[in-house]
Amino acid sequence: MSAVEKMGKALVTGASSGIGATYADRLARRGHDLVLVARDEKRLSDLAAKLKAQYGVTVDVLKADLTQRDDVRAVERRLRDDAAIELLVNNAGIGPKGPLLADDIDYLETMIELNVVAVNRLAIAAAQTFAERGKGAIINIASVVALVPERFNGTYNASKAFVLNLTQSINAEASVRGVKVQAVLPGLTRTEIFDRAGGSIDRLDPSMVMDVTDLVDAALAGFDRGELITIPSLPDADDWDAFTKARLVLAPNLSHNRPATRYGIERAEAV
Ligand SMILES: NC(=O)c1ccc[n+]([C@@H]2O[C@H](COP(=O)([O-])OP(=O)(O)OC[C@H]3O[C@@H](n4cnc5c(N)ncnc54)[C@H](OP(=O)(O)O)[C@@H]3O)[C@@H](O)[C@H]2O)c1
Repeated sequence: MSAVEKMGKALVTGASSGIGATYADRLARRGHDLVLVARDEKRLSDLAAKLKAQYGVTVDVLKADLTQRDDVRAVERRLRDDAAIELLVNNAGIGPKGPLLADDIDYLETMIELNVVAVNRLAIAAAQTFAERGKGAIINIASVVALVPERFNGTYNASKAFVLNLTQSINAEASVRGVKVQAVLPGLTRTEIFDRAGGSIDRLDPSMVMDVTDLVDAALAGFDRGELITIPSLPDADDWDAFTKARLVLAPNLSHNRPATRYGIERAEAV
């Protein structure tokens, strides 16, 4: 039996389309009961009915606009109070409308509410609850742009770097308390995200665009293998390990009581 098959009920945010809807399908197929979260209640109910009929699991719909604090709190309450929930797929997110200098600052702030504030609150609520129970898992959907901030809209990149960093940090604290954590870093994936932001996936190089079922199946295979970070497109996992090793080489030298000699700072008298 794989790791994910041992999990109980799963709560999936952004389950009405794309990556979230595909997770819902794959998790239901594995026998998980589900709580589906998004704004579009009709789409969620239609998906719930389909998954119930197809896989015989129970599926609840929880309508929530995760840019609204009261709605986020309602999802947090569900995570804390429903003892059957053992897996959070923290997926809901929006993409940019263009490059940073051409984007609308209010839209970008909404993006931070959804991609950062809600993701942070739900990840922490789940981590605290699962740590108390000594069991549970969190899958956070980040993006490869967290690793190439030079190449895409800065607010979106930063929101995904937040998710990556948060996942690594939660893992450091919570894995010893029985909580399994994974960040998934998709590259370009064929979903509605581009149309929703006024673009089109068809304008992108098809050799760089993955089908959403391949993406989710690879991400779940990474989860089953116990990966903390899963980059479905990356051919050689050693490249990620080398990157992590190089980053950690910095660690012993990131906080000293004196500036590095290259800055030429003499020890000054206190002001
Ligand atoms: N597609 C890609 O190329 C790609 C690449 C890297 C990372 N990602 C990440 O993957 C995640 C899923 O995106 P996707 O590609 O599957 O896009 P998608 O098809 O547009 O799905 C986005 C989901 O988020 C939900 N959502 C949007 N705004 C919401 C809000 N205010 N409150 C609650 N739910 C909301 C949507 O449902 P409702 O409209 O019903 O609320 C929908 O279910 C995102 O975090 C995205 O950043 C995508």
